[in-house]
Amino acid sequence: MMTMKTLMTAALLAITTAAAGAPVSVASPDGRLVASLDTDNDGRALWSLMRDGHPLVAASRLGFILADAPKLERHLGVTGSERRSIDTSWQQPWGERRLVRDHHNELRVHLAESAGTHRRIDVIFRVSDDGIGFRYEFRDAGSVRIAEELTEFNIVPAATAWWIPAYDWNREEQLYRTTPIADVGTAQTPMTLRAADGTHVAIHEAALVDYAAMNLAHVDGGKFRVSLTPSNNGPKVVRTAPFATPWRALIVADSAAGLANSNLILNLNEPNKLGDVSWVRPCKYMGIWWGMHLGLQSWASGPIHGATTANALKMIDFAHDNGFCGLLIEGWNIGWDADWFADGESFDFTRPYPDFDLPRVAGYARAHGIRLIGHHETSGNIAHYETQMAAAFDLYQRLGIDAVKTGYVADAGGIKARQADGSIGYEWHEGQAMARHHLYVVTEAAKRHIAVNAHEPIKDTGLRRTYPNMVSREGARGMEYNAWGAPPNPPQHEATLAFTRMLAGPMDYTPGIVSLKGKNGQPIPSTLAKQLGLYIVLYSPLQMAADLPENYTAQPQALRFIKLVPVDWEDSIAIGGEVGAFAILARRDRNGPDWYVGAIGGASARNVSVPLRFLDPAKRYVAEIWRDGDKADWQGAPFDMVVETRHVRATDTLALRIAAGGGFAIRIRAE
Ligand code: NOJ
Ligand code: CA
Repeated sequence: MMTMKTLMTAALLAITTAAAGAPVSVASPDGRLVASLDTDNDGRALWSLMRDGHPLVAASRLGFILADAPKLERHLGVTGSERRSIDTSWQQPWGERRLVRDHHNELRVHLAESAGTHRRIDVIFRVSDDGIGFRYEFRDAGSVRIAEELTEFNIVPAATAWWIPAYDWNREEQLYRTTPIADVGTAQTPMTLRAADGTHVAIHEAALVDYAAMNLAHVDGGKFRVSLTPSNNGPKVVRTAPFATPWRALIVADSAAGLANSNLILNLNEPNKLGDVSWVRPCKYMGIWWGMHLGLQSWASGPIHGATTANALKMIDFAHDNGFCGLLIEGWNIGWDADWFADGESFDFTRPYPDFDLPRVAGYARAHGIRLIGHHETSGNIAHYETQMAAAFDLYQRLGIDAVKTGYVADAGGIKARQADGSIGYEWHEGQAMARHHLYVVTEAAKRHIAVNAHEPIKDTGLRRTYPNMVSREGARGMEYNAWGAPPNPPQHEATLAFTRMLAGPMDYTPGIVSLKGKNGQPIPSTLAKQLGLYIVLYSPLQMAADLPENYTAQPQALRFIKLVPVDWEDSIAIGGEVGAFAILARRDRNGPDWYVGAIGGASARNVSVPLRFLDPAKRYVAEIWRDGDKADWQGAPFDMVVETRHVRATDTLALRIAAGGGFAIRIRAE
């Protein structure tokens, strides 16, 4: 085992340069992955990837269509290259694990046109044992207007794909499709693939800064080409060079669990730019929230207005009495009474409704050790929001509110943004304008020591490493669909998210609906034990106990676990799983010695084994287990849950049954 000191010492192993000429290649530290760049007869640059000596990605094109200059694609030659190797570790201020190892080999390839304007562009590869990232760097100073990126991913093995379509009205809030790779349409990322030999690949991107998000347009067979999210004003990306694009990333592993154990996306991001972020504090929170989704309360003013002073004080008491640290209050500010979906123009981000005494509620929360989580629903009107955002954050800072949940409810393509000429134009949630907006929100929030949890967000590309107040986000179908119920999230949904959406970063899924019922009393496709397993499997530093207080009071066994489970981890290990079938994760508390194991299943029951080799072999432990009872089944007996204690050691393997729609949660403490 390396000591902390060795780990924290950045090791730049070597830098070498090479002369002109293709092909050039670079291997992962374990030698299993080899990325190459070659040129064809027309001078097109092509990249490829081998794994264990077999092609995983065949020759795939690189390049750009530019709006005001000839296509940057042909007549390219390799004019030189540089290599370096890095083996270092860095600390996450909060996260799934405290120490993250970054061990990779880098190859920077200089390309230049042999004809015309002799433009120069670099392609940088970083290859680690868990995958590869590559990005372009535009080197010639001046304006770059990108009409489309031509990067291809020519996947060789036949594979099953888990994906959601790009450009559909409901953004990322869709059910995953499971199809042969050849039947994928235009997909969002991450898209996860499983080949017949068990190789798993997830295609995603890292460090999406001031650029349009990448979608994958299916061409033919296993071949995809980048489709950048459009912009209102022609070119999809407008930048001034020199600049680097986001990383195009492939996480590669022998199993689904291997994908979940990867740090590739974080490692491809820049280190923390905010300095001391001890003010970003992970937190388990309740909310004046589920009641609205059930239709029992309203965001709008009126007889069932949820965000009243009286309701807030009651919720603060309950959260305090049960050891929670935060309370989200939605519908506190003026603007919900008209058709708030329509345009977001009516929202006032500093003015509370008359029946909500904001200073009093904030003072009461402070006195009870509860942190309020602010709420800014924008309805996708960022032009309007940006005029009030600074004042709204100032208000929160004055009141000691250190986290905000933002929301961008609008159809895909329905973001209203101020354009360069002052007019309002429609943008996409994942276009360059929104990449800029989200960073603007996060940096303005950081100035006031506020953390951000965005709903209907831009996808996560690991920017929490650089801006650690970008704590969580939605970006998939969350629990709210189970309230509305048309249709609810099917039992395999979360076990799919664990190996698709979650590879991007934390998700505010809002687990813990222990009543297992939606709006019209319709059942949620889950057992009670699964609601507990979700806390461990679906990581978020802001984790909600989303149900109503009375529903927790009615389920004391479940509430006990929800009170115990930490939200910040020293280490995390995906122990097993199959996309859409089940996921088992073990995590160690960052602020204590206990381990927690969580599992969620899919549509059918299964038996699983949990080897406990992550425990200290010198110790004896007590495992407290919240599991599906023998008759449990989400359709017939969802509340059948057994809570039991077993004495265990590192050499033991727990054998457990997960019911249909089930799961389990375990706390393991030393005896
Ligand atoms: C959708 C969000 O996902 C949900 O959490 C929120 O309550 C509503 N928008 C209203 O902002
Ligand atoms: Ca949503």
